[in-house]
Amino acid sequence: MVKGKLLTDELMNVVVVGHVDHGKSTIIGRLMADTNSLPQGKLEQIRESCKRNSKPFEYAFLLDALKNEQSQGITIDTARCFFQTEKRRYILIDAPGHIEFLKNMVTGASRAEAAILVIDAARGVEENTRRHGYFLSMLGIRQVVVLINKMDLVEYSQSVFYDIQQQYADFLRKIDIQPQAFIPVSGHKGDNIASHSSNMPWYRGNNVLEQLDEFEPYTPAERMPLRMPVQGVYKFTENNDNRRIIAGTVEAGVLRAEDAIVFYPSGKKTVIKTLERFHDDSQRPFVTTEAAGFTMQDQIYIKRGEIACRMYETPPQVGVRIRANLFWLGKEKFIPHKRYQLKCGTAKTEMQLERIEKVVNAANLSYSNQQYAEKNDVAECILTLDSPIAFDISGCEATSRFVIVDKYEIAGGGIITEALDAYDYDTRNIRWSAGSVSRSDRQQLFGHKGMIVWMTGLSGSGKSTISEQVEKRLIAAGVHCYVLDGDKLRRGLNKDLSFNAADREENIRRAAETAALFEDAGLVTIVTLISPYEKSRALARSLSRQDFLEVYIKARIETCMQRDPKQLYKKALNGKLRDFTGIDAPYEEPKAPDLTLDTEHWSEEECAEILYNRIMTIINKGE
Ligand code: ADX
Repeated sequence: MVKGKLLTDELMNVVVVGHVDHGKSTIIGRLMADTNSLPQGKLEQIRESCKRNSKPFEYAFLLDALKNEQSQGITIDTARCFFQTEKRRYILIDAPGHIEFLKNMVTGASRAEAAILVIDAARGVEENTRRHGYFLSMLGIRQVVVLINKMDLVEYSQSVFYDIQQQYADFLRKIDIQPQAFIPVSGHKGDNIASHSSNMPWYRGNNVLEQLDEFEPYTPAERMPLRMPVQGVYKFTENNDNRRIIAGTVEAGVLRAEDAIVFYPSGKKTVIKTLERFHDDSQRPFVTTEAAGFTMQDQIYIKRGEIACRMYETPPQVGVRIRANLFWLGKEKFIPHKRYQLKCGTAKTEMQLERIEKVVNAANLSYSNQQYAEKNDVAECILTLDSPIAFDISGCEATSRFVIVDKYEIAGGGIITEALDAYDYDTRNIRWSAGSVSRSDRQQLFGHKGMIVWMTGLSGSGKSTISEQVEKRLIAAGVHCYVLDGDKLRRGLNKDLSFNAADREENIRRAAETAALFEDAGLVTIVTLISPYEKSRALARSLSRQDFLEVYIKARIETCMQRDPKQLYKKALNGKLRDFTGIDAPYEEPKAPDLTLDTEHWSEEECAEILYNRIMTIINKGE
């Protein structure tokens, strides 16, 4: 299956959730019929068979018929339906109940980047409706459209619609979901599904198809940092063939010949020598979802379970303590001090449940802090692993989801929500470990997340000016933030350092370590340093434990020379200042910054506005 290809090849996975009787199947059947996505003759065939059996035709029958064909007698947990709009192709994932849905999501059988939540207008918000909302939130699915269905049964009443909308929106707000839309529909009659209904002139928003097309696909997997969990290492000894091939599936990003690679959790580095395909010597890159193989330039010892990543891209987290949202499936209770196995990507380790933080009643959000989870419980918990694994907090699903194995059976699954410690490759020790105040405690106190905004660019490019403006706006908006400025640091913490390459590296290392502490304290930390070396910026990125935004403040050297606010270019050109960046010291332009602000073409205000908005989105600052 293609994941995240662009434009016409674009594919979006949408999960449809709702109480069984609220009309999910009818809506799916209708969406497929109205987009002409059914196999030829299918609709007529079902209509015909309804007539023969003197049953009124229902779109839900269509879905049943399709499901029967898919399952061919085997019970299936989820049905998948395909349809297409002009914009892209869709896969609709339909699970019979929430248990099946959660099971598929946490064990990696399904993935979804958006959800359709169906509520029966005549029945309103029920326990299951709330439960479904909670599960979407737990799984991190933030793009949601709520369909208030069967509007024909409530005489297309505007007030019924608004009452349900208000009640459900209140609930969703508590769990951090803001639906993109609430749409009044009738799957049965086709109102507001693929066209605008004349039965509800009071509703002027999108119909379902238009709304789906407005959803944003996840970052295309190819643009994410490389993640290739190592499945095995194969040695070929026949005919003097001495290749050792590292094999696995590219779960995110792109793997190219000659890439510099770092394996995690070991931190071992090498450069790719050859890409290995069966009967194909071409060195064509491996893209996401491809089974890949490669040989290395160095003879390093690599085991199954490591993740191959590209140097300078965001590395995964590595540690032995994690916080996770877990869905328990086992017959036996999940309890502390018992030995289990955890599998994440291709890594496997023994583990224990350290502590359950809460077992959540998804229907009313009440929770208990009982120290066990029973079958079908949803729990937030802390897990301790016997050996370090590499994982992601968001982004690549294959490396951020895990399953727990108890006596050879999958007994639970979930997503990792926080790294509670970090491993240090140099010392081979735990580098830091979370204290008793959790990150979410700090976030609640401040009302937003912490992050590092790393501003790099030539002297005079505008780093300080923009960061000052952004800081002012953030403070005005109630965001706790601080600017770590190169000049300021060099007067204190870094006053022993010069501008030669080694000292600049040390300058940046100290600034990055400080920024990581500030970020951990919960602050939005803006760092403004020339930081001319890609290697140092990558180090800074790797030290961040939350979000790291590399911002390239772009201006040509000629422009910076003209601006020359501190008259330093003049001095450098006159030979009075040595090792000046851009004159007689290098500046390596960022190859893939998260944001570029071009200060030659945009005003300071425009740049500040863009950066401010980007920060506010990342830190989830509520109004
Ligand atoms: S970095 O290269 O190590 O990241 P940093 O941002 O801390 O540099 O310091 C840059 C600031 O130091 C400049 O804004 C400038 O005011 C001052 N400076 C003094 N000498 C130099 C030099 N040789 N090269 C660059 N900046 C210099």
